Amino acid sequence: MTKHLLKMADLNQEEIIDILNLADQLKYDQKHGIPHHLLEGKTLGMIFQKASTRTRVSFETGMYQLGGLAQFLSSRDLQIGRGEPVQDTARVLSRYLNGIMIRTFEQKEVEDLAGFGCIPIINGLTDYAHPCQVLADLMTIREYKGAFEGLNFCYIGDGNNMANSLIVGALTVGMQVSIACPEGYHPHPTVMEFAKKYGSNFRISDNVEEMAANADVLETDVWASMGQEGEAVERRKAFAGFQINDKVLAAARPGAMVLHCLPAHREEEITTKVFEAHANEIFDEAENRLHAQKAVLVKLMGPEEV
Ligand code: CP
Ligand code: NVA
Repeated sequence: MTKHLLKMADLNQEEIIDILNLADQLKYDQKHGIPHHLLEGKTLGMIFQKASTRTRVSFETGMYQLGGLAQFLSSRDLQIGRGEPVQDTARVLSRYLNGIMIRTFEQKEVEDLAGFGCIPIINGLTDYAHPCQVLADLMTIREYKGAFEGLNFCYIGDGNNMANSLIVGALTVGMQVSIACPEGYHPHPTVMEFAKKYGSNFRISDNVEEMAANADVLETDVWASMGQEGEAVERRKAFAGFQINDKVLAAARPGAMVLHCLPAHREEEITTKVFEAHANEIFDEAENRLHAQKAVLVKLMGPEEV
């Protein structure tokens, strides 16, 4: 069966750790000039129905560093943008490519690509999930904290694609998870159901400081995701106070790290002061997109033994 990365729940703890270990090794090799052309002759198609800086550049660079080729496919230029069904697109692209990364709106579109094609599909962000980002976030947490066991992870803000994937990823690797989120903006019901299995290791409330208490890692994301720009005013009202600021940091453990998938809206979900004080962590996190995704590409498209 073809392997895919459609959402975090596709991966168990062992598989996540395996990807993170390979990502660490690929990062080390890259920094030390050790070539690793594990995807020589392989081509990745990258379909974008939404804007991107990090995902596009890190996938393209990652494929190049692995000896392969990445093709940027804007949905505006593909026939998919003129209504050609995903089922046909998947079957055609499967004949040319060795893998597809797709950034789109509906999770169903990604699942359909996986269902109809016969090559690995990687979710580069949907309204439901952002697994590539969360693998990079977990890699960064382990880099700074050494291990996941005993860590308290706290996410503050919208119960969006990032929240969904962070909850699943953080619980799977063994962290305690608390979410500060306003009523009406909770994570997806399937994720809430997943989290239930973890009992008291998962908490959710609209009390930001209570959720941030003793956190080792604080993370947030924009109040209005791509496609929600029209609701920005109403969202700004709903999320007022759901911000990482000095008060929230004071509730966390001393030395707590701060993550943000970027792009960030300063003075909305995070203050400029906190952002700049934690810029090293946040930009290491952005860099780790490259290394974590290279590991995913190798696992899905590379030689069996890696
Ligand atoms: N964090 C992230 O996915 O960034 P881009 O939207 O720039 O790809
Ligand atoms: N939640 C954000 C993440 C951007 C990387 C969005 O979907 O726009």
